[in-house]
Amino acid sequence: MSDLDAFSNQAGAPAQLGEVPPDAVIAIDGPAGSGKSSTARALAKQFGLLYVDTGAMYRALTWAALGAGLEPGEEARIASLLAGARLELRPGEDEARVFWDGRDVSAAIRTPAVEAAVSHVSAHAEVRREMVERQRALARRAGVVMEGRDIGSAVFPLATAKLYLDATVEARVERRVRQHRLRGHAVDPAAVAADLAERDRLDSARRQSPLTISPDAAVLETSAWQLPEQIERAAAAVAAIVAQQTPPPALPDQPRLCARRRVVYAVFGVLARFYGLREQDRRQLDLPGGVIVAPMHLSYWDAPLVGATLRRPALHTLAKAELFRLPPMRAVLRTLDAVPIRRSGFDAGAFHVACEHLAAGRDILIFPEGTRRPPGRPGPVRSGLGLLMQRSLAPAVPVFVRGTRGLQPGGSSDSPLEVRFAPAVRLRALPALRARHDERQISARIGALFEAIYGELQARSFAQNPQTAWEIADRERAAVSCARREARVFGSRAPA
Ligand code: DC
Repeated sequence: MSDLDAFSNQAGAPAQLGEVPPDAVIAIDGPAGSGKSSTARALAKQFGLLYVDTGAMYRALTWAALGAGLEPGEEARIASLLAGARLELRPGEDEARVFWDGRDVSAAIRTPAVEAAVSHVSAHAEVRREMVERQRALARRAGVVMEGRDIGSAVFPLATAKLYLDATVEARVERRVRQHRLRGHAVDPAAVAADLAERDRLDSARRQSPLTISPDAAVLETSAWQLPEQIERAAAAVAAIVAQQTPPPALPDQPRLCARRRVVYAVFGVLARFYGLREQDRRQLDLPGGVIVAPMHLSYWDAPLVGATLRRPALHTLAKAELFRLPPMRAVLRTLDAVPIRRSGFDAGAFHVACEHLAAGRDILIFPEGTRRPPGRPGPVRSGLGLLMQRSLAPAVPVFVRGTRGLQPGGSSDSPLEVRFAPAVRLRALPALRARHDERQISARIGALFEAIYGELQARSFAQNPQTAWEIADRERAAVSCARREARVFGSRAPA
């Protein structure tokens, strides 16, 4: 089978695979010509999920904008064109069929004219906001395989599995030229190469959700593969990620809780219930030791409540050094083998101890935001978390915390007390990221991913229990003291 046939063909023989949950979200990102569409379509068929080509959504809007005589830079008018339009994707024989206000535009969106303008149209913040809303709405109706540029990094930071497909420019040009010829468009390979290079530049350099490798994505370099092999490998990568996320029926050889931890956890567990803690699905923490626990930070109650919820046999909190000066606090911290950390600058000693604990299979609790933040506004995440993940290679569990600033016996009507755990984040993309960026830059990407995850966990919490007037007022109160504290601890510079 030629490359051409391979890339225009459907799934081929389905591989034998493990189950993927029916509400799974499989995110597939990568540059133009990396084979995303063919792969995503085949995986959707194989796993019984809905296939969504988000590039086709941006292309349809571009087609409509050009048809309406708009320039690609006219953000407000293009955004209002989209706001008033019905945009549908329906499964087709080969590619998905795209309808703009009921009109089939599937062929029209693949022309060189649309191709030349689509990166400009898709760079507008207002356009992306509306598109992301529509993409998330699709996944509320069914499990999806969704392909694009920002699916794993921005649209679904908590996707069940993320793939990033890459290929050399030469391989991508060859595929694009064949696709165009197959559709009957005469193209000049040099022009296609120039267009791809320009689209890569625009897609990667734009301010709004640029094309980026999500640190937890499995990266597949596809240049040398024919389509059937690409699909098989992509499906195997998804199956492996899903299997890794499925908690084992029993954890091997978990050490028992020592007596002092049992006492401390019991005390805080009782307190948590007294204050009406609702904990959500702590099975995410059914992992062997050596995990980074990474909660949002609102108040001093966060660490004990998260710790008591987890009941891990060896959890070491990185706590600011100042706390060890207060005698009662020091006693509790010592009992729990907390590690003092100096927050201004980089505390190499604390960092080293944390890495040693992780290497020995003990857990570390770190607050990635570095200090208590106003509720309802997660982030910014500082560089410490990303550095710790890169050097220890330990998985990190993002934890959403709500209500620890408004505790009331029996549960607060001002601010519900909640702890929610996300599945562990693993740095699957680290080798690919290291080939492109330095350690600090990778930390920034890890930080951005955690900010997006906290935002998503918060959105889920607010969808179940809407934010209260007390919480909104408290956010403003806390913002003032937080700004002062951040200036004192980290200096007035924007956080790294
Ligand atoms: O995948 P494609 O070539 O059909 O995408 C067309 C354009 O849309 C591409 O230049 C970048 C943009 N796009 C985007 O910005 N975000 C997405 N999620 C998908 C596509």
